[in-house]
Amino acid sequence: MVLADIAAPYSSVESFIYDRVIAPAVLAMGERIAGELAGQIADDAQVLDVGCGGGHLALDIAARRARAQVTGLDLSAEQVARAAARAQARRLAVRFVQGSALDLPFHSGSFDVVTSVASIKHWPDQAQGLRECVRVLRAGGRLVVFEADRGCRLEDAQDFVGRWALPRPLRLPALAAFRTWVAGQAIDLDDARALVGGLSLEATEVRRVPGTPALMLAGSKPL
Ligand SMILES: C[S@@+](CC[C@H](N)C(=O)[O-])C[C@H]1O[C@@H](n2cnc3c(N)ncnc32)[C@H](O)[C@@H]1O
Repeated sequence: MVLADIAAPYSSVESFIYDRVIAPAVLAMGERIAGELAGQIADDAQVLDVGCGGGHLALDIAARRARAQVTGLDLSAEQVARAAARAQARRLAVRFVQGSALDLPFHSGSFDVVTSVASIKHWPDQAQGLRECVRVLRAGGRLVVFEADRGCRLEDAQDFVGRWALPRPLRLPALAAFRTWVAGQAIDLDDARALVGGLSLEATEVRRVPGTPALMLAGSKPL
């Protein structure tokens, strides 16, 4: 269970709860994230979303970029099945694959953009996972990773948790859980700078995503 060990695969109950309660808020935050990403994704790009969960972002990218080839990968078979069903329902040709960020089942240089949202806090070796993301990028490709910010502003966390599909009385405990268990086990700007600094990337960027409790780290693979 991921609730007991953040690096464990999501169980079916956890996948269901995440998908129904939290993912809609991530998707709302994703409007901003998708906006940030849109400028980085060419019409015909090959895109990989690592730790795609129920596939919301991968499907959003495919809907915005009809000629892009989008792949989502997740450790959890439950999440992959959920994402594939969602793709079928939306008639979007997105490929969903089960696997680990630490050992991506793709050839080197396969993607123009590799992204990941709210997943790296779960990776038992974040540096190794990010090296894998860089390996599967083509030269000149862009890595764009979003994660909860351990140093996020209370107002941004409140706004984010306010969008979870929960009855109002549960929002305060959910806010505490988000600040301690989720963001508390995530990364801060210093961690993000250290992670990016360990990668062979140029044009790197590490910053908070305004109006959200998330930060972004990004960089391009040298030509
Ligand atoms: C908080 S959810 C985020 C899901 C999705 N990106 C979103 O924004 O809604 C984290 C996801 O990362 C996945 N995950 C955890 N460890 C992973 C790993 N080592 N490799 C790939 N995915 C992993 C989990 O199964 C889960 O679906």
